[in-house]
Amino acid sequence: MLAFLIFLLSCLLGRNAIHAASPALGTLHRRTYFYVGGTYTVQGNSSIAFGQMYVEHLAPVKITQPFPLVMIHGHGMTGSNFLNTPDGRLGWADYFLSKGYELYLVDHPSRGRSAWQKNVDGIQSSYDTFTIESRFTAAQLFNLWPQAALHTQWPGNGSVGDATFDNFYGSTMPSLDSDAETAAKMRAAGSKLLDQIGPVILLTHSQSGQHGWVLADAKPLKVKAIVALEPIGPPFINAVFPPFTPARQFGLTDIPIAYSPPVTSPDEISRVAVSSSSSFTCYQQTSPPRKLVNLAHIPVLMVTSESSYHSIYDGCSAQYLIQAGVSVDHVHLGDLGIHGNGHMMFMEKNSAQIVDQVVQKWNMKTMRP
Ligand SMILES: *[C@@H]1O[C@H](CO)[C@@H](O)[C@H](O)[C@H]1NC(C)=O
Ligand SMILES: *[C@@H]1O[C@H](CO)[C@@H](O)[C@H](O)[C@H]1NC(C)=O
Repeated sequence: MLAFLIFLLSCLLGRNAIHAASPALGTLHRRTYFYVGGTYTVQGNSSIAFGQMYVEHLAPVKITQPFPLVMIHGHGMTGSNFLNTPDGRLGWADYFLSKGYELYLVDHPSRGRSAWQKNVDGIQSSYDTFTIESRFTAAQLFNLWPQAALHTQWPGNGSVGDATFDNFYGSTMPSLDSDAETAAKMRAAGSKLLDQIGPVILLTHSQSGQHGWVLADAKPLKVKAIVALEPIGPPFINAVFPPFTPARQFGLTDIPIAYSPPVTSPDEISRVAVSSSSSFTCYQQTSPPRKLVNLAHIPVLMVTSESSYHSIYDGCSAQYLIQAGVSVDHVHLGDLGIHGNGHMMFMEKNSAQIVDQVVQKWNMKTMRP
């Protein structure tokens, strides 16, 4: 009895603030995981597998939505992004479970719980604390772009030493340096996933914006809609953070995507700068633009926060898609009266408001017109 009481007390007292601060139980669901894709390759006198992708399947007791949601994280991140917030609140995964969605949360191949095999996979690196603080969690203290000053929604001070920051930083993972390699691996493993579970709605963030476009291109009948939270951009060139090197040679993707008329080389995508500032040049196609044929029937919601560096160029990425025949609803949270968010909006203080008032509202309108 005494031992039990001591155990109980140590459970109550011994936990740090983040664990203790989670009062909500969340939505009852079944959790399983599996791996998809991957290739065996000879290693010495035996073999190893690489390229396989971790998939976490969460199913509510009663599935009431017609299509599952596949949630794909960004650079340096894993599927844990959506499980709960770094300050211990329920995450977007729980919200969608409560609305009757079946969910699939992945870790990119070579990331997190998806093996990185040193002899076959490319070079990796990690986000340092400066990058996370200055771009995501405490952008207002660094002001690397004008809108950064508007950032107020990160829980805590967003800097090293703050329990929520430290928990979030701890969740970041080494990532392949090459976006092209990541996209190719996602296209391979993700296509297999969509064959197994599709049709689905894709929810992408940042780096995985590209994965939404390439997966829809690879499996157009398996993708009903794409929710792109601040997808990687802008077309053809990096912006905001120098050097402004060429990137995404196929427009919004580093790897080939189907255009009509088709291109055999990315140089055939004729482009023109339509606006330019010291930190950002917006390219669109010259007229008549080639069309992203496989994306033409797939509605896209693009969501951009008020204070993120994406607020500078997401409009250019949206226009690029629209010019190429894609149907895009581009929402600026600030225009809806949702202020102060940054790039990690789905884990910020008002995360529940954003998913409910923006994403789910659009899903309901778009999937059940
Ligand atoms: C494979 O090679 C290793 C190291 O040379 C050796 O220890 C192992 O017994 C070999 N296994 C087989 C199945 O031959
Ligand atoms: C953030 O909070 C932590 C913990 O209280 C503290 O150590 C750190 O100095 C704070 N950083 C800033 C930039 O306010």
